[in-house]
Amino acid sequence: MLISERLKTIIKLLADGEFHSGTELAEGLSVSRSAIWKQLNSLPSLGLGYKAVSGKGYRLNVPLELFTEEQIFQSLNVQARQFITLFEIHDQINSTNTYLMECARKNASSGFVCLAESQLNGKGRRGRDWVSPYGSNIYLSILWRFQQNGLASISGLSLAVGVAIIRALKHHHIENIGLKWPNDIFCEGKKLGGILVEASGESDGPCSVVIGLGLNFFLPETETENITQPWTDLSKITGQNRLPRNQITATMLNHLLPLIAGYEKDGIQAYIDEWRSYDCLKQKQATLHIGKHKIEGIVEGVDKNGMLLIKHSDGTIKSFASGEVSFSLS
Ligand code: BTN
Repeated sequence: MLISERLKTIIKLLADGEFHSGTELAEGLSVSRSAIWKQLNSLPSLGLGYKAVSGKGYRLNVPLELFTEEQIFQSLNVQARQFITLFEIHDQINSTNTYLMECARKNASSGFVCLAESQLNGKGRRGRDWVSPYGSNIYLSILWRFQQNGLASISGLSLAVGVAIIRALKHHHIENIGLKWPNDIFCEGKKLGGILVEASGESDGPCSVVIGLGLNFFLPETETENITQPWTDLSKITGQNRLPRNQITATMLNHLLPLIAGYEKDGIQAYIDEWRSYDCLKQKQATLHIGKHKIEGIVEGVDKNGMLLIKHSDGTIKSFASGEVSFSLS
């Protein structure tokens, strides 16, 4: 559903999670109470549940900390700031990754950061949708141009990005988060977030890369019926529904931007040992799905280039560059 200016204003007024009377909302927007009521009815389709109590008014089921450029920049460090050339926050967008890929085609430069409160067509890996309800998760993309070795220079980048995400979460004392090859952010066997790296350019010349991060802060149950894998969110993991979303986003950027900027020089080698320490597939019996093929075995970790190592029943170990791994929790 498209979000009107009127609806945005109502959401901003209700974001504090407190009750607001119909009269107060109507006065705030200079519209009738029935116009407010009509707008409130569309909140659930954005994933925003609310409660109406007679004599008190309306309040959101879960308070929101909406993105503001000011708050994010307050928590950005000097180094991260210097990498940002453009910074946009959208209330609603098709997909932050698709948008930045389009901007790359129109010559936008490295360091373009795009955030959205919601995505209409959020993209996951392997053509999946990324569920992107309004106002409570991170949908973040960064455009970067790599100058020299083309697509080879970004090999392993999505794994390194996973390391930056875990570092940022640790900074906020969010521990016990792991990585599931190649680039899922996992907690106790459930997916907390994902990374989608898209690239265009030459195999041995300059290339443009969009690094997209989706991180669940709070996913309303009403939005999750089409998610096909076990999922979790930060509110479940931490037991808090008032996490500082702006600060955490800034911390992500503090870790991500220098890593991306230095990646052409550093490569995956600078991150692979740390990646291994977060590996939540290691020594698990797993199935790797490559198209219609299934490869069974024990995961032996990743090699120095970030390829997945699987030990087969005959004891041989093979490495794989792509695919989707499934495993059981036991
Ligand atoms: C995955 O399937 O695990 C990757 C999910 C990536 C989702 C993020 S949300 C921000 C950016 N924009 C998109 O459309 N996708 C990525």
